[in-house]
This record gives sequence, structure tokens and C-alpha cells, in this order.
Amino acid sequence: MLSSRGLQLQLLACSVLLLLLFQASNAKKDLKSACSTCQQITENFNKGFDRTAKQNFGGGNTAWEERKLSKYETSEIRLVEILEDVCESSSFECNRMVEEHEEHFETWWFKKKTKHPDLHKWFCIDTIKVCCPKGTFGPDCNSCIGGSERPCHGNGACDGDGTRGGSGKCSCDPSYKGELCLDCVDGYFSEVRNDTFSLCAECHASCKTCTGATNEDCGECKEGWEDNEACVDVNECAKEPSPCKEDQYCLNSEGSYSCIACDDACSGCTGAGSDQCQACAEGYQDVEGTCTDINECSQSEPACLKEHQECINNKGSFICICSSGFEEKDGECVQQNDATEESEASQTISDPHREL
Ligand SMILES: *[C@@H]1O[C@H](CO)[C@@H](O)[C@H](O)[C@H]1NC(C)=O
Repeated sequence: MLSSRGLQLQLLACSVLLLLLFQASNAKKDLKSACSTCQQITENFNKGFDRTAKQNFGGGNTAWEERKLSKYETSEIRLVEILEDVCESSSFECNRMVEEHEEHFETWWFKKKTKHPDLHKWFCIDTIKVCCPKGTFGPDCNSCIGGSERPCHGNGACDGDGTRGGSGKCSCDPSYKGELCLDCVDGYFSEVRNDTFSLCAECHASCKTCTGATNEDCGECKEGWEDNEACVDVNECAKEPSPCKEDQYCLNSEGSYSCIACDDACSGCTGAGSDQCQACAEGYQDVEGTCTDINECSQSEPACLKEHQECINNKGSFICICSSGFEEKDGECVQQNDATEESEASQTISDPHREL
């Protein structure tokens, strides 16, 4: 009896040791997630607290219940009801943390709530020590870079902020850079700046770098702009040869240009539409400056030369089809034969597969 008890204790000690080792090795990366789990628990606890505010023992608090079980408001039953809904059943981390620290919740509920109403602070920060106050990080809750009041000088996020993990270093917001997030990235300039405060504003669209807001304040021009006292748009379309293909026209824009397909009626063009052609495409002719479709079917010379053919005009061309009552056979239009369908039908019947 005694020895089996001793063995149990040894096993227990052994597993505790393993657990501690395991925890130590995983602790570093788990510190941030432990805090967010705890944060979630306390947020849900507060929600549960509000939800049960108007509740009672069920069917109204009888005098007996109030006397025997004390008020529902401060009862163990209410605590249990709140704790039951604190975690999603699928969240292992959450359920483990609540189970592990059930006693703490009881202590807080019955003894500390009045003096320490902020459960997150009492539980996550001060008691189980998985979180830190805002603006601090790491095992000892040191101040983030830039100070705990305005971590990263208000221009970034402090790694591990509010948790027992992280490095306290800043990842700056998009327009800021530097360890302290006080410097501006390229394309931005410092509008306001002192040792603790920095506001970066966007450069003019023409600048790669700048010292102010206008195109005269550029350090370097962006591509598509050239330095001419100020950065001004390059008209790529005025260049020889044109940057566009033969069947395209060029459209300049601020800092860039685009190539747009010419109208079908054109062979080369200077702009949109059939009235801006350099020459007319095949099948079109110039009518008062606009390239217009030629109706090949209404020329004095017939366009379709075979017998029983009909001409159909389309944009830029024409097609020849057999007149109604005729069909194409070996390049000729021949009289439609109604017997064709019948012969096809008889073929189907003589299909060898059918005979089987
Ligand atoms: C820095 O600038 C901010 C904003 O203009 C101001 O509130 C702050 O007092 C300034 N700090 C120092 C040290 O000058």
C-alpha cells in the first residue's frame, strides 16, 4: 500500500518535472498567445457578468434561497454560470487555463472583486502573470520602445505589447521607419518632428523623395517625370519614334502614358474613332475625313462570282453565301436535295451496332 503510494508520488513528480521542462521550452513563443487567451477569458467573463446581471436562481429568488444561498448576484452559482460560457468548447488553451486557475476565479469572485474590479489586471497581469500593462512587454513588463505612454511614438506597434513575451521593438506604420518610428520612408516628408513626435506626409505624386508637399520640393523625380526646376510630366507620346505600336495611338497621362488600339476602320491613327485615321484599313474608304466601310456588294462589278450566290456586306469585308434553296457542295452552290435527310435516316437503321 505504502510502496504503491510512493510510486504514485514518484510518477507525479516525474510528470510535473516533464511538464515544467516542456513548458520552459515552449514558454517563449507561447507567452504572447497565453496573454491573448487570458484576455479573451476576461473579456468573455465580463460579458457573462453583464448577461447574468438580471438573472436569479430561477423562478425568482425566494426568501429561503436568499437566506440559504446568499444573493444570486454574488453566488457561486452565478460564478459557475459565467465560467461555463467563457471558452469555446473547441478552445483547448482557453479551457485549460480556466481549469488550471479555477481557484483564482473563486478568490477574486468572493474576496477581491470589490477592491480589484478590473479582472484582466488582477488575473492576467498581477496574478497569473501572462500579460503586462499596455505599453509594456516581456517577463518584467518593461516599457516598449518610445515609452509605455505612446509606444513607438504613436507610429507603430510594439512587439509583445501588453504581454509577457515579445522584444519591445517597433514595427512602424507604412509611412514611418527607424527604430523609433520617427523617420519618414521614401515618398514621405517630415511635416512635424521633435524627439518624441513625428508626422510624415506624402510627397507630391512626381517625387521619389522630397522635403515638402509640392513638385518643387522633390529630391528626386519619379519615373515618368523629369527635373525641370520642378518635377514635370514627361510627354512620352511626343517622343520619336512613338512608344506605341502601329495600330495604336498614344495617350499621355501624369507620370505615364498608355497605348490604345485604333478604330478597326484605321490603318494607323492619331486618336480614337474612325475620323482620326492616318490611312483607312482595307475594306474602308475615306469619306470626308472618316474611314467608312466599303459596301462590296453594291459595286458595279459583282463581288460574288459563282452561280446562285448571294453577297452579304460586313464591316471591312463581305461574304458570299448560297442563295436560299441552295447549299454548298464542293465549293459550288447546288439545289438543296430533300432526299438527303431520308438517306441519312436509312443509314442510321443499317448501323451495324443496331443489328446486334
Ligand atoms: C513635440 O511635438 C508635439 C506635437 O507638436 C508636442 O505635443 C510635444 O510637446 C513636443 N515635444 C517636445 C519635447 O518638444
